[in-house]
Amino acid sequence: MASIISIRNLEKRYDSGFQALKGINLDIPDGDIFALLGPNGAGKTTLINVICGIVNPTGGTVEAAGHDIISDYRAARSLIGLVPQELTTDAFETVWATVSFSRGLFGKPRNSAHIEKVLRDLSLWDKRDNMLMTLSGGMKRRVMIAKALSHEPRILFLDEPTAGVDVELRRSMWEVVRSLRAHGVTIILTTHYLEEAEQMADRIGVINAGEIVLVEQKNELMTKLGEKRLTLQLQEPIEQVPEALSAHALELDDAGQALVYTYNANDKRTGINSLFRDLDHAGLRLRDVDTKQSSLEEIFVDLVKAPTAGNTRNDA
Ligand SMILES: Nc1ncnc2c1ncn2[C@@H]1O[C@H](COP(=O)(O)OP(=O)(O)O)[C@@H](O)[C@H]1O
Ligand SMILES: [Mg+2]
Repeated sequence: MASIISIRNLEKRYDSGFQALKGINLDIPDGDIFALLGPNGAGKTTLINVICGIVNPTGGTVEAAGHDIISDYRAARSLIGLVPQELTTDAFETVWATVSFSRGLFGKPRNSAHIEKVLRDLSLWDKRDNMLMTLSGGMKRRVMIAKALSHEPRILFLDEPTAGVDVELRRSMWEVVRSLRAHGVTIILTTHYLEEAEQMADRIGVINAGEIVLVEQKNELMTKLGEKRLTLQLQEPIEQVPEALSAHALELDDAGQALVYTYNANDKRTGINSLFRDLDHAGLRLRDVDTKQSSLEEIFVDLVKAPTAGNTRNDA
């Protein structure tokens, strides 16, 4: 699939001297839901803000649908909708006014039918004449999405759309995002919730300390997660894996107390049955068994466990 966003060697050093992005290379396929996952301070907001033209890069290039975000700023920006991490709304405006005004900012002609559709899709139609200050936090967040969609962008960025949002609203936001994708909008969302990336994304990128450390199709990531470890606790410690078990890829732990067998739960033949038969033949008696499945959580923790000095500020 063609990529709608192409990022090459992107760098951002803030005026403070802090390097928030360290040579990012990333392609985002057209029509995908892409989740950018990373701990606080990883550089997610900086990356999004650079793509959306809010923060200037100090090196590298970004193209949105072939338009350079600097030399061809207007064309690039008109394709992009952004729902920022911080909610900013004008308390005394109505829902209708604020959303239609946003469209005007992009130089698009009035289109009441489009604004109506956006408000209906986000269940805001009944609230169109309400002032923003009368809305709940969740409704305000929907207004931010409506604003971002007012000029019919092809690419929508959602920066931590569900941070601090209750479970019910989170699920309804996911529905909104899925239906946008069904209409051909590419969605890039940042999150530090694994569950969100797992539920929503076609593709997942992990960013840590200003570097992309992994980009993968979610399904492939999930297959890898099918890997399991079976631990066999022995009644009596042994010195080495018995000859009768040599056909099985077993590891003995340091104390000689447990054998560890790794297999993929998705495989037709896991080898577990013959392993147990051979254990019996070898005369090994078991005290206990357990299995453990690696999770996205573990992969994530492994990837980001070496925090860089000076990058520990928590801005949540
Ligand atoms: N205006 C700024 N000046 C200096 N450092 C900044 C600025 N904005 C963000 N940072 C730093 O850049 C790093 C990345 O921040 P950010 O992109 O907001 O991360 P995330 O969105 O992943 O939490 C953090 O260490 C943050 O403190
Ligand atoms: Mg952020």
